[in-house]
Amino acid sequence: MLAALMCIFAYLLGSVSSAVLICHLFALPDPRKAGSKNPGATNVYRLGGRLPAVMVLCFDILKGTIPVWGAYFMGIDPIYLGLVAVAACLGHIYPLFFGFKGGKAVATAFGALLPIGLSLGGLLILTWASVVALTRYSSLAALVTVSLAPLYTWLIKPLYTLPVTFLTVVIIFRHRANMVRLFKGEEPKVGEKKKAE
Ligand code: G3P
Repeated sequence: MLAALMCIFAYLLGSVSSAVLICHLFALPDPRKAGSKNPGATNVYRLGGRLPAVMVLCFDILKGTIPVWGAYFMGIDPIYLGLVAVAACLGHIYPLFFGFKGGKAVATAFGALLPIGLSLGGLLILTWASVVALTRYSSLAALVTVSLAPLYTWLIKPLYTLPVTFLTVVIIFRHRANMVRLFKGEEPKVGEKKKAE
């Protein structure tokens, strides 16, 4: 029962689109209508620079961390923590409060996995940062990181391999347009503004 309530809480918290709210706060264009049209930190960085992007990133990470950590401290059976993580990400992707049109859940998934294993989180950051450093493609870094996430999880916290694999499939699916742009050589690199517009 408590686990189900935490899943609902996670979904509702995930449904708060920080990118839309923070862009509004900074009088920036609606991230759903400008740039890559994705309400996420990468697009907010494109539209408004570092400060709003970092705020969105932190907010979106916490949307995953808070419910999973909360569930953990409430003593909910560890097997259900994966479901809470999935609920938070589904809230971000299909937000109740924003017409079910949300983002790609990379930051929220990362935040949700942090309480499950800090070393897992560290490996994920290292992978993401390495790909960005090498290629300067945020989307490619996300794709490589989420593709490796099930393997990392299986090695470190095997109990969560199934929900993490589910999130990997959903997040890759959400990057369809990015993959097309990457193949065409039209994906903007971090710091570039034009190609996704
Ligand atoms: O996490 C989202 C990122 O991978 C891609 O964002 O705005 O380039 O579609 P964007």
